[in-house]
Amino acid sequence: MPDALPVAPDRLTRPVQFRAPALPRDRPHIDGAMDKLRIRGGTRLDGEITVSGAKNAALPILVASLLTADELIAENVPELQDVATTLKLLRQMGVSVERSGNTVRLKADAVTQTEAAYELVKTMRASILVLGPLVARFGSARVSLPGGCAIGARPVDQHIKGLEALGATIRIENGFVVAQAERLRGARIVTDMVTVTGTENLMMAAALAKGETVIENAAREPEVADLANALNAMGARIRGVGTSRISIEGVERLHGATHRVMPDRIETGTFLTAVAAAGGRATLRGADPRTLDSVIDKLREAGAQIDTQNGLLRVDMSQRANAISLRTAPYPEFPTDMQAQFIALNSSADGVGKVTETIFENRFMHVHELQRLGADISIDGNTATVRGVARLTGAPVMATDLRASASLVVAALAAAGETVVDRIYHLDRGYERMESKLAALGADVVRVK
Ligand code: EPZ
Repeated sequence: MPDALPVAPDRLTRPVQFRAPALPRDRPHIDGAMDKLRIRGGTRLDGEITVSGAKNAALPILVASLLTADELIAENVPELQDVATTLKLLRQMGVSVERSGNTVRLKADAVTQTEAAYELVKTMRASILVLGPLVARFGSARVSLPGGCAIGARPVDQHIKGLEALGATIRIENGFVVAQAERLRGARIVTDMVTVTGTENLMMAAALAKGETVIENAAREPEVADLANALNAMGARIRGVGTSRISIEGVERLHGATHRVMPDRIETGTFLTAVAAAGGRATLRGADPRTLDSVIDKLREAGAQIDTQNGLLRVDMSQRANAISLRTAPYPEFPTDMQAQFIALNSSADGVGKVTETIFENRFMHVHELQRLGADISIDGNTATVRGVARLTGAPVMATDLRASASLVVAALAAAGETVVDRIYHLDRGYERMESKLAALGADVVRVK
């Protein structure tokens, strides 16, 4: 039986206006809405940095706290805007949240409401991840539809279809997903396409369902596996972790746990690509190269030496990159979150590279900005053809989404002269103190308020 909610049931049917509790101000850089990065490129990158915890593993793991009344402790949680947004959302639901550095302690023993308002959801699509846990534990949820974003429509129909298969009654009203369920029941679910947060939502919901659930066509991304490992530490019974067939034996209750979030493979790939573009030699501490085979293969093809011995990840680039071609696809193939960075690398590489995006329908927003730096790129449908130029030249550019802003930084580091990247709040969503890590590698980069 779902846990009773100490709140009058009628409150769950009409919009609840509530005041978010005053939150401790997050780190100044997280609030830097109109900050810019000024980069003077053309110098090598040499040195050592430590990779932060993975954003796309931390977000679902923090949300998994909703599945138990016990305390969940998440370690190695990066200090990012999207993490701050997730914690704000959980606090608004009544989850007690204590953060000290990269450790977050969460306790959902007094959840007061099961609603996620549009104000927060519109800033972060991943808020949809509260849907599964809320329905599974409390039998009800009212979550704003995320709406589109810069890189595509990004519907959540698979999340809804899967929850209905588990027995939830779902209706869409006034832009909200309203879900009700007595007790979810295990089911066999085949998603129409590989969906990362869809798999995560359904896995969390199935953990408390009655009976067994099998998710076919499940996402194999390492972040999904990291969430599954955290859920199993909480007492869930999930098998097939990391494969496209995940089976979940539902349990009555989950208990607390302590889980260390995996290192961020996209941050790792972004820094490797920056060194490959600017030239240099760097050591990335705390990285897990096994989650980046497809990216490392492509960087080696581009001419970078990459060494993954004794738990360290070293990159050495002493030549102009060779242009490479790639197509994005679900893990373990080349990640869409690294596509923009590789178009930046190709922009000043030797030769012509073709980059095909198969996951999102509008993920070439960075191309127009890269052209302002002198890149020679033409787009035909979902393929960008990049003809490497000898040297990019700095210019003012504007970030449009998280990974597009990373690609502008990569290009600026390789470009001659000064580049100012505007709207880097996009960058702060997914990269922890990027400018200080780049400065540690000798880059001439300054955050301008
Ligand atoms: C996750 O987004 C990541 N975000 C994205 O990272 C990443 O780019 C993406 O997976 C693909 O790897 C988080 O994990 C928080 P999907 P998600 O559901 O789960 C379509 C970043 O930069 N689809 O795997 O939203 C969808 O439109 C972000 O950190 C449906 O049609 O992506 C897309 O074309 C950007 N219906 C494709 O599937 C659905 O119900 C893959 O989407 C769900 C998805």
